[in-house]
Amino acid sequence: MVEKRILLIVTGGIAAYKSLELVRLLKRQGLSVRAVMTQSATEFVTPLSMSVMTEDQVYGDMFDLKEEREIGHIQLSRQADLVVICPATANILAKMAAGISDDLATTILLATDKPVLAVPAMNVRMWNHPATQRNLAQLRADGIHIMAPDEGAMACGEFGPGRLPEPPAIAEQICIMLGHPFDVMLASGRSPTTVPSGVPIATQQNLPLSGQRILVTAGPTHEAIDPVRYIANRSSGRQGFAIAAAAADLGAEVTLIAGPVHLATPRGVVRIDIETALEMQTEVEKALPVDAAILVAAVADWRAAQAPEQKIKKDGGGIPALNLTENPDILASLATHANRPKLLIGFAAETEKIVEHAQAKLAKKGCDWIVANDVSGDVMGGANNAFHIVTKDGVDSWPESTKDVIARKLMEKVADALAKG
Ligand SMILES: Cc1cc2nc3c(=O)[nH]c(=O)nc-3n(C[C@H](O)[C@H](O)[C@H](O)COP(=O)(O)O)c2cc1C
Repeated sequence: MVEKRILLIVTGGIAAYKSLELVRLLKRQGLSVRAVMTQSATEFVTPLSMSVMTEDQVYGDMFDLKEEREIGHIQLSRQADLVVICPATANILAKMAAGISDDLATTILLATDKPVLAVPAMNVRMWNHPATQRNLAQLRADGIHIMAPDEGAMACGEFGPGRLPEPPAIAEQICIMLGHPFDVMLASGRSPTTVPSGVPIATQQNLPLSGQRILVTAGPTHEAIDPVRYIANRSSGRQGFAIAAAAADLGAEVTLIAGPVHLATPRGVVRIDIETALEMQTEVEKALPVDAAILVAAVADWRAAQAPEQKIKKDGGGIPALNLTENPDILASLATHANRPKLLIGFAAETEKIVEHAQAKLAKKGCDWIVANDVSGDVMGGANNAFHIVTKDGVDSWPESTKDVIARKLMEKVADALAKG
């Protein structure tokens, strides 16, 4: 196997020390790592430590004569298979969003033609700041992959989202993006997983969905009425997240496109956050081709025809009319897409005539299965669900169980269907 190369950009956050552990884990997975450090990063970790871990020189100075004679920043950005920024400060995210290139790291990021994964880590207030969230939205729109931070106690004593995910989770994410087998035993620091012959094996390669690319959408969408109000629905995203987690556990390469929900990213899943139906459609298109698409998200059917830039005022002039326009039908558009997934699954949240409505939806949308569920109780946001899998061959009704258990059962059925071709 040709050795995959990672260009790791380390920026100046308190979590920078964890980048050393990340390099160790990546090298144990058989990946080569080259490091670039910002000036601030060198306040937290010495270039010498990083150089020992990467077994290479560490890059930092754009005007290093030898490197620049060969246009070093272009070379560095092109020689890698993946550029990873870990940790990514609020500062570098802002610079990237604005296209600023005032040091080696930011110049590489502007010059690269390779996929980029940013792993942000910062204080919860910095993370929640509208400027950071605006920059993240811009970066996602620019095609940058953002790994969601963990939630919990922080070095600064506060609590919330913004913590760097643990290095094994980052290493796994990187392996998924590179299509490189991830060995859990190696990541945990134990001996390589071996078969009796002593040949190392990658645990992910022997699972029912190994080698399959799966797209899952989850959660609601928010459709702006004005800058402060929106149309939404009660979807919690839990079922879609459980399905993405089950697919990853069965070895698939999973992209999860999530509406606005407060859920942790399942291990080993590439998550893309969106707000509106139009953004979801764009991200779904970008994720193709995939082997199977499971569209669980409760995408709003309509959005406001015009969303003014200023808040609509209650000024005594009567109740404003809310004019709606139809959102794109993402499921139907995938059914006729040139890159149609081999297996296309839609969800139907129904409150009456569950199976009947699902059968009509199957015929109308041109997908392979409709998973229908009765949302008349507390299914949306609740812990349990019951599925009716409607296909052209009939209806398979599963009893109520937890969203995790039913997700696993669904993904096993998907694995069977993909195996049969
Ligand atoms: C002790 C200390 C810890 C910091 N931790 C973080 C952090 O975790 N995340 C962050 O975004 N900025 C953090 N900063 C601020 C950055 O170091 C600062 O914004 C810097 O300009 C980042 O430069 P760079 O993005 O070029 O590496 C910290 C600063 C100090 C002094």
